Amino acid sequence: MSKSARELVFATNNPHKLLEVQHILGESFKLLSLQDINLTEEIPEDHDTLEKNALQKAWYIYNKSAVSCFADDTGLEVDALDGKPGVYSARYAGEGKNSKDNIKKLLKELQGVKNRKARFRTVIALIVDGNEHLFEGIVNGLIIDYERGEDGFGYDPIFQPDGFSLTFAQMPLDQKNDISHRARAVNHLADFLMKQ
Ligand code: IMP
Repeated sequence: MSKSARELVFATNNPHKLLEVQHILGESFKLLSLQDINLTEEIPEDHDTLEKNALQKAWYIYNKSAVSCFADDTGLEVDALDGKPGVYSARYAGEGKNSKDNIKKLLKELQGVKNRKARFRTVIALIVDGNEHLFEGIVNGLIIDYERGEDGFGYDPIFQPDGFSLTFAQMPLDQKNDISHRARAVNHLADFLMKQ
């Protein structure tokens, strides 16, 4: 890491996410986790859109620590369900339920439904010098009707990105990271930061 790397707080304590995003941003930036800045309390995230949640988290950190920071929020938006589960993707089957339960509920709701189009959408909210900026990353695909693959997390076993015959859960991680919603949003963030 170069000495002049700019420090940026990423609203996560997930070391995998931190590494993945650090890799995309490169050496000009040094990412700090919430733990690194001793922010241990739970950050509120109670809005009804990805944009509002990402902004809420980023402003919360900025107001506490006054450092440049960004937060992300992701949802799976299914056309036939008017964009659901969307912002509620993590707890679609209810509080305390897991990804398997979420998948089960989604497949049940899509039983017999022909239109299987869906997208993962990530929104990143960045706050620099008190100004907010939003970035979006989308990957379009289909919800298949049974689980395929062991890797990944969340809805990966039932999401097949357009142009591929594998689900996200069947792809090597590098391949998923090349085309994923999160990577696309982070690339937009990186383009913006490089120009600053
Ligand atoms: P988060 O905003 O990254 O925490 O994502 C919210 C929820 O969306 C997660 O709990 C997962 O259910 C789902 N999700 C986000 N990203 C992915 C992904 O890459 N694959 C599958 N599910 C995902």
